Amino acid sequence: MNYREWIFAGTGTTPKSVYPDVLFPDFQNVYIDPYSYQLWKDTGSFPDGTIVVKEITTLGKTNSPVGRGFWQGDYISLSAEVKSQSRFPDTHGNWNFFSWTNRAEEKLNDKSPALGAACSNCHVANAPEGGVFYNHFAVLRDAKGFGKGAPENLSTRKGLQQKTE
Ligand code: HEC
Repeated sequence: MNYREWIFAGTGTTPKSVYPDVLFPDFQNVYIDPYSYQLWKDTGSFPDGTIVVKEITTLGKTNSPVGRGFWQGDYISLSAEVKSQSRFPDTHGNWNFFSWTNRAEEKLNDKSPALGAACSNCHVANAPEGGVFYNHFAVLRDAKGFGKGAPENLSTRKGLQQKTE
């Protein structure tokens, strides 16, 4: 699965060096599979089979030609949220949670067991509808049930349209 070719929802930025109490370091890049994004946009609901992945990276540079800030360092690991009625009939919204890769061990645990309550407790209690934190990401917020067309202001992209004929 080449999730970096999916829809990029956005990045949570929680640099541990600044906020030592945060649960996950430092950046969380979130992607959703394109098919499920399309249905999210059409219907406002995540369809069965939705996969949302969260890629964690370290904090890299903290200054640049534009001034001080936070930029991404290296890839650390990948987790995922998967919606499946047949696999997870008893979880809230049929979501379950996985943690897949560990760069140090260079291993892809695609047979990893679902992590269940260790992750879902917080998501169920705090995320909208108890699943994906789409409220944290403009791309997902704007698209929810939008229907046809582009959720952001299309006129800002005049000249960038792909030719269709
Ligand atoms: C204390 C609360 C909490 C716990 C525990 C937690 N998460 Fe999350 N998770 C969040 C928040 C808040 C976001 C959205 C912001 C972000 O990405 O940092 C998020 C985002 C995600 C996303 C991206 C999709 C989304 O919902 O925005 C995935 C995938 C994810 N978490 C997986 C996991 C996994 C796997 C675990 C267990 C190992 C876990 N989470 C445990 C709070 C939590």
